[in-house]
Amino acid sequence: MVRETRLEPSSLILPLFIREGIPEPRPIAGMPGVVQHTKDSFRRQIDLAVKAGIGGVMIFGIPAKRDEQGSEGLNPEGVLAAAIRDARAQVNDDLVIIGDLCLDEFTSHGHCGVLNSKGAVDNDATLEIYGQMAQVLASAGAHMVGTSGMMDGQVGVVRKALDANGFTDVLILAYAAKYASAFYGPFRDAVESQLQGDRRTYQQDPGNFKESLREVRLDLAQGADIIMVKPALAYLDVLYATSLAVDVPTASYIVSGEMAMVEAAAAQGSLDRERGILEILSSVRRAGASIICTYWALEAAELIKKGL
Ligand code: PBG
Repeated sequence: MVRETRLEPSSLILPLFIREGIPEPRPIAGMPGVVQHTKDSFRRQIDLAVKAGIGGVMIFGIPAKRDEQGSEGLNPEGVLAAAIRDARAQVNDDLVIIGDLCLDEFTSHGHCGVLNSKGAVDNDATLEIYGQMAQVLASAGAHMVGTSGMMDGQVGVVRKALDANGFTDVLILAYAAKYASAFYGPFRDAVESQLQGDRRTYQQDPGNFKESLREVRLDLAQGADIIMVKPALAYLDVLYATSLAVDVPTASYIVSGEMAMVEAAAAQGSLDRERGILEILSSVRRAGASIICTYWALEAAELIKKGL
């Protein structure tokens, strides 16, 4: 009766990985229950997501072939666009279909953008590709695109490309404050990332707070519909400040490594897994995220309904 913070299935987003050309779903190290999906197993997850009453799914496509430019990301018949098209045909508007708008799954070097002749990420050349990719994902049926690449100006370019092509009602989930985090470890495995080195030239320094608020302000000015802070647990202060500062919904992403920590601790009997999951979700909600992206979305929806 007196609880201040409540969780609801409809505010959860489930990230899903779909891999081109695999005969069976493939498990991902460190993330029990999370797999690279085939078309069939992906379809079943979309069904479960609707039945569980969660808000949406965030789709990551893993292509069979990569190149320097990440061109499979722009292929309207490629793994990501096809998955979005299938999911939308399956559910229409019963679930929010979100496409990850980034190149890292598609580039042979694993960076979120294309490289210049010196091997550094070329921000502005990448923006052009993001604009085209936005159009491809929206044409495939995405209700929303998640701009996760941390290029400067990406939200503005994507908004313009969407509007110019008749997709004025496609929303932008802006990863505004995305830190260069060690907690993306298992995700790199999930998308078979080819990355050497790190993303510190474009993702945020974990020591910075004010810089995040600036990033948030810039994304809002460029047309962000939802602001994301990521990862969640190590950045609850940033999430809290952001949620107070903006008048759009605030989201946070409990990332792969954060999930892996809990799963590993629970597997060795150190904590009560279900209580741990709900406590973490509550903390993220309490810190101001009205939308939570979590690999536990389906299970959490059940736990919430059971009233745990
Ligand atoms: C980049 C992207 C990453 C994640 C989501 N989108 C990886 C990165 O920035 O290195 C990580 C999510 C997770 O760890 O669960 N497209």
